[in-house]
Amino acid sequence: MKKISAGIIGFGIGQKHFEAIHNYKNAKVKVICEKNLKKLKYVKKLFPKIKITNNENDIFLDRDINLVSIASYDNYHYSQILKSIKNKKNIIVEKPMCLNLKHLQNIKKLILKSNVKIMSNMVLRVNDLFINIKKKISKDNIFYIEADYIWGRINKLFGWRSKINDYSIILGAGIHVIDLVMWMLNKRPHSVLAIANNIVTSKTVFKKKSMALIILEFPGNIIAKITANGVAVHEHFHEIKVFTNKKTINNTLKGSFTYSKNNSIKNKFSYPDRANRKKLIHNFIDHLLNNKKKLIMSKKEQLDLMSVCLAAEESLKKDKKIKIKYIR
Ligand SMILES: NC(=O)c1ccc[n+]([C@@H]2O[C@H](COP(=O)([O-])OP(=O)(O)OC[C@H]3O[C@@H](n4cnc5c(N)ncnc54)[C@H](O)[C@@H]3O)[C@@H](O)[C@H]2O)c1
Repeated sequence: MKKISAGIIGFGIGQKHFEAIHNYKNAKVKVICEKNLKKLKYVKKLFPKIKITNNENDIFLDRDINLVSIASYDNYHYSQILKSIKNKKNIIVEKPMCLNLKHLQNIKKLILKSNVKIMSNMVLRVNDLFINIKKKISKDNIFYIEADYIWGRINKLFGWRSKINDYSIILGAGIHVIDLVMWMLNKRPHSVLAIANNIVTSKTVFKKKSMALIILEFPGNIIAKITANGVAVHEHFHEIKVFTNKKTINNTLKGSFTYSKNNSIKNKFSYPDRANRKKLIHNFIDHLLNNKKKLIMSKKEQLDLMSVCLAAEESLKKDKKIKIKYIR
């Protein structure tokens, strides 16, 4: 592929997609689709030279467009992925790809049959601190990891997230740290147990679970305890603790620390490292322009991650530990 011509759907986080894509190497955004008419007017003023529409088919039916960036609400991702595949367009999709197992199975079937490439925006994989923690533990025996996704933005739950069917705090928030743990361990869990509550939100418009605890069991008896905490009174934060036979690494509000047998040091790595977030989309574009460039997250890893999150949802519903079935 020599040049990238992109369409973006949804201009919330989609604005970040725009900033990452437009004018990066041979990539240009040709069309932006935004269904909120007030916002549409604002975007038109912002980018007078780009086509702004509220009809997603202006993207899907444009033969010049070879990349669709899906940053719409979670409940639209599935149908927009299907339309992208049908029209042979590569896909950047915000998490989660879809909201149930049937849809994931269908995505997998269609995507493996096509040449279309797909990436989901697991931005923690390009975070300086987490890249360096992964390096520091690569030769150790890890026995336990804790990863807390502390959203700290409760108001977000009261907008579209309270209105759509099947919104899930695990698929919508916890997914980031579930991915982080699987990526750091370079392993897939074999079983999951999840429990959740809605103590803080039960009397609000948000009627789903707003706080979930997820236990993952990995080969070699490694255990991970993960929370998807949508309601904490806290700043937006990823609190991570990795315990190995040689050291403990801890990312706390006071900084990130490495404790080993004889000393403890404050890590100098950058967090939250927003400056590097574009790297994931840049890596995908690099790969589209030259398929020898390795992807940061493979198709298989994306599908595996979704299988784990959906198994956690199943565990919540059935109130029992679930053996994870990775879709084939
Ligand atoms: N990877 C991340 O770190 C990250 C961060 C925030 C949001 N997200 C994901 O991004 C998606 C959007 O969330 P957000 O925070 O930007 O929400 P938002 O409400 O801030 O913005 C979404 C925008 O998309 C528009 N939109 C929604 N559905 C559309 C459709 N079908 N067609 C055209 N326009 C549409 C809305 O009108 C709105 O302007 C969600 O799936 C969310 O999970 C990911």
